[in-house]
Amino acid sequence: MAHVSDLIEKDIDAYLEQHQHKSLLRFITCGSVDDGKSTLIGRLLYDSKMIFEDQLAALEADSKKVGTQGGEIDFALLVDGLAAEREQGITIDVAYRFFSTDRRKFIVADTPGHEQYTRNMVTGGSTADLAVILIDGRKGVLTQTRRHSYLVSLLGIRHVVLAVNKMDLVGFDQARYDEIVADYTAFAAQIGIKDFLAIPISGLRGDNITSKSDATPWYTGPALMEHLETVPVDDTLSAGPFRMPVQWVNRPNLDFRGFSGFIASGQVKPGDAVRVLPSGQTSRVARIVTRDGDLGQAIAGQSVTLTLDDEIDCSRGDVLATADSPPEVADQFETTIVWMADEPMLPGRPYWLKAGTKTVSAQIAEPKYKVNVNTMEHLAAKQLELNEIGVCNISLDQPIAFDPYTDNKDTGGFILIDRITNSTVGAGMIHFALRRAHNIHWQALDVNRESRAAQKGQKPAVLWFTGLSGSGKSTIANLVEKRLHSQGRHTYILDGDNVRHGLNRDLGFTDADRVENIRRVAEVSKLMADAGVITLVSFISPFRTERRMARELMAPGEFFEIYVCTPLAVAESRDVKGLYKKARAGELRNFTGIDSPYEAPENAEITVDTTTMTAEEAAERIVAELEARGILRPAIGEG
Ligand code: ADX
Repeated sequence: MAHVSDLIEKDIDAYLEQHQHKSLLRFITCGSVDDGKSTLIGRLLYDSKMIFEDQLAALEADSKKVGTQGGEIDFALLVDGLAAEREQGITIDVAYRFFSTDRRKFIVADTPGHEQYTRNMVTGGSTADLAVILIDGRKGVLTQTRRHSYLVSLLGIRHVVLAVNKMDLVGFDQARYDEIVADYTAFAAQIGIKDFLAIPISGLRGDNITSKSDATPWYTGPALMEHLETVPVDDTLSAGPFRMPVQWVNRPNLDFRGFSGFIASGQVKPGDAVRVLPSGQTSRVARIVTRDGDLGQAIAGQSVTLTLDDEIDCSRGDVLATADSPPEVADQFETTIVWMADEPMLPGRPYWLKAGTKTVSAQIAEPKYKVNVNTMEHLAAKQLELNEIGVCNISLDQPIAFDPYTDNKDTGGFILIDRITNSTVGAGMIHFALRRAHNIHWQALDVNRESRAAQKGQKPAVLWFTGLSGSGKSTIANLVEKRLHSQGRHTYILDGDNVRHGLNRDLGFTDADRVENIRRVAEVSKLMADAGVITLVSFISPFRTERRMARELMAPGEFFEIYVCTPLAVAESRDVKGLYKKARAGELRNFTGIDSPYEAPENAEITVDTTTMTAEEAAERIVAELEARGILRPAIGEG
């Protein structure tokens, strides 16, 4: 193996020791193959001698055979091996490569440069300390340069290198270089990149890569590698206020209770006053425990276990912070969201939001605007599609501790997760808490849901009828209500067609509008339950996620999903409103079952099959089932 240091052979322990104490720089390269990105990365790996002898032999042979450099070493071949795998359909979203020099270790995230790869750049860049933005010296600042720079700025990557590549192809012309740097300077200021280092390079010839080139005597700055080796990392993080999201509570026996986690910023010593967020309780650090014994101090980047002087409540997902400069706590924010899923982001749909070690349920409002990543223009948007970036308010089902993303990426950044598939669908950055969140408090009322329900002599319930249009939901719900009403129950029907005449008049039938339709009717049902009423909801409600959201809004045992099961062919043959005919004729778009999906319930409390029973029989079954399950029993305390 071609290795970095003779120490490997002479004294492996000393080598490993030296290696372990080197600092680590994570960086990302932005640019496309045409800009010479693969050649540059290949050159860095080669010059730092982080390739194996056999790889080197293969590289030399391949360069002669298929290289584009006339038999000279084609560094791009080192990196582009992966491109072939990408073509074979093996998904490599972001390739991380490791190399090291005597002074530092490096992890470079290599992401494809095209616009459709925004999500990969966000994945690769979210942990980067530095970004190398590659420009082809012949072409200058391009649309993609702007796009990459915008993302770099959005992700808060602190150090930016503008690598003006292929200088050999422009005769190492200083005037050309100065022109590009001036163009970029003007643009960078607009998007908030205050500082960057421009370097004229040739990845192919190695100019200004590991050492200063004779071809650019007019360039006075460092070579790329020198800059990568010396740029400061982690300094601002450990200077910030102490933050440690609690990963788990370590309680091996009754005598020990420690809070384990990764220090996201700042430093901590025994005796420091700390605060647990969101509760706000305070205590002092007693010990900093690690595998290798107690520490007198710990700083950002270390994983530790803290014990406290007092027995206070603190669990996984909480944040331990310095008592005098704690993070804020809120449940509503303005954020920037990068959407990373093929399915669009739907305002109003609940997603899991994971911030630090805490996962909560979140609803995203309609975007204030989305950003055209090529021109930075703000555009109106109803939802966000794959790779789109938008500014949206977001509201959580419980408060979390946070810092603005610009202050702290760890406590100000989050990911969004689909609640059904559990896949990551977006990433976001918190701007600030909405002030209204601070000014609206829950009002305690003397007449409460129990007293209202008791007065009516019933337990509130939500009977949620779901099924295709024309399945018979409204007919059956109507019959059920008649029966309950005649028994003296206080009921109310929320019917899709009717509610769409008033409260939901502004909504159509796109996925986004249906999500909002169900969100509103679920909230109304919740108010109805609070009023002590038995509510019958009759909406197609085609999506599982929203029906689950409605279920979770109600008290346990209060929500009954009733699946009115009618095959599409049967509903279509009935076609009471003539809508299927219109939909088939193409006069009605987004019709459920035709060109808009229906997700049948998997765990409905009651399913009625309308092909084997009449509406009367179905209603009877439902009422019998409700009675059997104790729903119609009078409320406790009443006769
Ligand atoms: S939901 O999908 O958002 O829950 P909702 O139950 O409110 O739908 O409304 C469905 C009713 O609207 C149907 O019974 C039908 O009468 C009418 N309708 C009009 N256009 C459509 C459409 N494109 N898809 C489904 N229903 C439609």
